[in-house]
Amino acid sequence: MSYDIAVIPGDGIGNEVVNATESLMIDLAAAHGVDIQTTEFDWGSERYLDEGSLMPDDGLDTLEDFDSILLGAVGHPEVPDHVTLRNLRLPITKGFNQHICKRPSYLFEGVESPLRGYSGGDIDLVVYRQNTEGEYADVGGREHQGFQNEVAIQSAVYTREGTEAIVRAAFEAATERRGKLTNITKSNAQAYGMVFWDEVVAEISEEYPNVTVERLLVDAGSMDFVRRPDEFDVVVASNLFGDILTDIGGIISGSLGIAPSTNINPSGDYPSMFEPVHGSAFDIMGEGIANPVGMLLSMSLMFEHLDEDDLAETLWDGVAEQLADSDAPRTPDIGGNATTLDVAGDLEDRLL
Ligand code: NAI
Ligand code: MG
Repeated sequence: MSYDIAVIPGDGIGNEVVNATESLMIDLAAAHGVDIQTTEFDWGSERYLDEGSLMPDDGLDTLEDFDSILLGAVGHPEVPDHVTLRNLRLPITKGFNQHICKRPSYLFEGVESPLRGYSGGDIDLVVYRQNTEGEYADVGGREHQGFQNEVAIQSAVYTREGTEAIVRAAFEAATERRGKLTNITKSNAQAYGMVFWDEVVAEISEEYPNVTVERLLVDAGSMDFVRRPDEFDVVVASNLFGDILTDIGGIISGSLGIAPSTNINPSGDYPSMFEPVHGSAFDIMGEGIANPVGMLLSMSLMFEHLDEDDLAETLWDGVAEQLADSDAPRTPDIGGNATTLDVAGDLEDRLL
């Protein structure tokens, strides 16, 4: 098989983790008889600072022809965060209707959780986050800016189509995993959108009698990600809550730097996009010490989406074995002193 992959390294450590891992991905695929052609796009904040936009006006037309998109991260200390996110990642996820965001959190053997008493395999959950609407809908406005009577309105949008799709995807995942689904909302305070969401979960649960459904409010749910993460299997949540919960999922599994993410258009009408959960990490950018594992596991999830299961598994298992090996190089976020390139190079030696 042969695939055309669009690669957008982006900003900060997004660039660093993509650059360190891209050739490994291509070479590993080639070793499995899979031909990967990558095209790199220099879209991101530097482009915005030079030319006034993060990507060209016809950026989506350009991306549309690719089989998949890989994204590092976007975000720059000199560009407001809402500008970067709303002019690159969100137009792609929304434009290409990548409405399913699947984010596994797994505590690998050899990685220490900041939570006491958890070891390899004890945390194994996956969050299904609605990825195109909810609290990140571009609905709202501001008036009387800078005056005492200033008003800012930010609305959340929940459609039946979008909600049913993410909930159904989560139930499907639960049937293939341990048969438990936790629905995390805030229906006590948000009596329209989130009560509707709960109703959809209740309706769809009728189709999945073998899945146990648990319901939590997001404040208690966040606490339970810390208190009893081992009891979660599949979690379904809105755009904002899924975003927040998956940073917690990352850190309880050892580091945000190892957490992978997917933005999936299940219909295949448009390409899906794969990226680590993390951002461009201003605090470590330029130091060459970002953990490349989140990027590598995102590449594995891309292969899984492309039905290259063998390749997906080889990459995932290779990363797992490297993490389990106490002699292997590891970046500072998981207790080592190696660089991004050291880790990628060592993995290349192991797999190729
Ligand atoms: P962040 O995810 O970039 O970093 C949070 C913390 O995790 C930092 O302490 C960072 O050093 C650490 N970290 C993250 N990835 C790591 C890795 N691979 N290895 C080691 N440590 C890692 O979030 P932050 O600092 O809130 O945002 C920085 C910028 O990134 C902002 O502009 C934000 O808007 C943007 N952002 C972009 C995202 C995207 O492109 N999908 C996602 C999240 C944030
Ligand atoms: Mg996030």
